[in-house]
Amino acid sequence: MEIVAAADSDERGLTLLRVVGQLQRVIVFLHSFACDRGHLWSTQSAEARQGPVMSDEQITKKVREICEELILSQENLKEVCDVLHEELNKGLGKDTNPEATIKCFPTYVRELPNGKEKGRFLALDLGGTNFRVLLIQLGEKCSMDSRIYAVPQPIMVGPGDGLFDHIAECLASFIKERELGDELLPLGFTFSFPCKQEGLTKARLARWTKGFKCAGVEGRDVVELLKAAIARRGDVKIKICAILNDTTGTLMSCAWKNHNCRIGLIVGTGTNACYMEKLEKVELWDGDLDEPHQVIINTEWGAFGDNGCLDFIRTEYDNNIDCESINPGRQLYEKMISGMYMGEIARQVIIRLVAEGLLFNGNSSEILEEKGSFFTKYISEIESDKPGDYNNCRVILEELGLNSATDTDCANVRHVCECVSRRAAYLAAAGVAVLLNRIGEESVTVAVDGSVYRFHPHFHNLMTEQISHLIKPGMKFGLMLSEDGSGRGAALVAAVASRNSR
Ligand code: GLC
Repeated sequence: MEIVAAADSDERGLTLLRVVGQLQRVIVFLHSFACDRGHLWSTQSAEARQGPVMSDEQITKKVREICEELILSQENLKEVCDVLHEELNKGLGKDTNPEATIKCFPTYVRELPNGKEKGRFLALDLGGTNFRVLLIQLGEKCSMDSRIYAVPQPIMVGPGDGLFDHIAECLASFIKERELGDELLPLGFTFSFPCKQEGLTKARLARWTKGFKCAGVEGRDVVELLKAAIARRGDVKIKICAILNDTTGTLMSCAWKNHNCRIGLIVGTGTNACYMEKLEKVELWDGDLDEPHQVIINTEWGAFGDNGCLDFIRTEYDNNIDCESINPGRQLYEKMISGMYMGEIARQVIIRLVAEGLLFNGNSSEILEEKGSFFTKYISEIESDKPGDYNNCRVILEELGLNSATDTDCANVRHVCECVSRRAAYLAAAGVAVLLNRIGEESVTVAVDGSVYRFHPHFHNLMTEQISHLIKPGMKFGLMLSEDGSGRGAALVAAVASRNSR
């Protein structure tokens, strides 16, 4: 009862605020009309003063015009597909790979699980701000026990040894807590950064992405660095059976039960995809040519566009985000799609609209002006409001210190979010369509994971709709949420690896 009453009084408060807002507009309008018959100037803020007062309809029209550059046409998307196809070819070609931006790293994972894998495995999962250690039981009875550890910001950008010591320490404490010390458990290490693999247990970091920048790791074998950190402690016994990317884990985890699965996709903090490719198409391949004649390719498509080939769709907002990032000029496709950047793109558009007097009557807030203050999860929350209802939107704007948003402001903020998320979903869809067309099988399941895909209310549908437009006629596909690729997927790669080494 109390809650209902509070909601009612909030509602009344909001209505009052809205009425006051409208009154202010009328006063401003009359005042400026009296002062200057020809031009109507707002007195609300410096920015708003620069332009004539506009009706809600005019504001909305202007907002839509400004957002238009975020809307990709079918022609744009087809061109993105064509260019991506070419860039993938360059990545796979022996002579062209050194210059290619999309590196197409062969993973040395050549077999998909058959569903019969069993045993107990440890998995490590590093790829974002959290690090996880998992204990996985595969077989008739499957179970998973895991613990999340934070990776403090100073460790993300500190010396490499510090990072691996932290990982080894978390692993040791997990093993101690679960009293696993006596067993030599096989371990799969999900390390979600671009690595040039030289085997299933050898992977050199090509470069850091997603806000990591630990010195002394690029160019080195991360398995060796982990082993060295474990050796420095001397209290952990493990057998590292495989190192893999989160996309590979996602594909394996889904393929365990779904035998049509050929693509693993992540749309989370970063974006990337892997797919099963025929060896004859992988000129780069330097492993054996025995059966099966296939290998999972970790495309590292986040770097698509780093040579300028996506400039025809990039905007000033994308440019700003890139310039202010820890890795300028790199991961340009990722910066248009993934969760690490989507919120910031929306914020950039919103502050421009405020500066032009088109939102919040030209009044910004201190929080809104801070880089990174508009979280990507806000986009999902705002778009989860039913059309015409702005509950989440208002709560978020209030969190940002914007307390007097009108319905028009809310509708326009929502429009900005929709443009940003739709563009991301369509770009990811273009990538998936290219891979589906390359694989060329009649029916393919795409395993997907990542916070953006999971939590955005329309991402799945937007992607599905757009992929259907971009694939060859007659092909069937499905996007399937892959449960815990980085954990179960790592265990499966370790299981398939130990099956083959027996
Ligand atoms: C970044 C990483 C890539 C990873 C992706 C998703 O793009 O470079 O390895 O798969 O993020 O986590």
